[in-house]
Amino acid sequence: MIKAYLLSAALFCTVFGAAIQKQQRVVVNDQYEFEWAIENDVITVSVTAATTGYAGFGIGPSGNMVNADLAVFGVLDGSGYLDDYYSEKNGAPSLDTELGGTSDWVLVEATEDETRTITTFSRKLVTSDAAFDQPILPGPTSVIWSLGTSDSLEYHGQSAGAVEVVFIEA
Ligand code: HEM
Repeated sequence: MIKAYLLSAALFCTVFGAAIQKQQRVVVNDQYEFEWAIENDVITVSVTAATTGYAGFGIGPSGNMVNADLAVFGVLDGSGYLDDYYSEKNGAPSLDTELGGTSDWVLVEATEDETRTITTFSRKLVTSDAAFDQPILPGPTSVIWSLGTSDSLEYHGQSAGAVEVVFIEA
């Protein structure tokens, strides 16, 4: 697992509005980076992905798709989309709602140009969907990511991986 490289850390940033407690950015590689802010019990994440297809962001305790809590998002025909998935294994995930859970990640904004998609979304740190959402707790968290070549949720090939992130200091 790659150790996340924290590019910046700033208190009271204005990226997501006023009164943000903390905001940080992780550059995974030249294809994928994300930043986040936590305000009270809500985390807002913004992913910049080098694709005009789908991108995925998840909490994967094993560093892969086993028991992973996934958000899959992008822009299709000019409209942003985001869906809350869960995966028991390395393979096609299921929507939380198909499994009896709830959809908890909320799309804030999504834009794309010729080469990249920028998507912002938020969720409670600990949702009430305990079966299909991983809680975001103090200490190291394994974040997984993926990129698709289209907006169909298909196998990502080599365009997936994991980074360890501390969202909340222990
Ligand atoms: C239909 C959708 C998907 C399919 C069929 C699929 C399939 C697979 C398969 C077969 C593997 C094991 C082989 C390999 O490492 O490449 C794998 C690994 C992985 N997948 Fe997926 N996946 C899907 C979507 C996603 C999404 C949405 C994410 C992240 C948000 C994701 C993250 C990962 C990660 C992090 C690994 C481990 C990669 C590594 O060990 O380097 N996958 N996936």
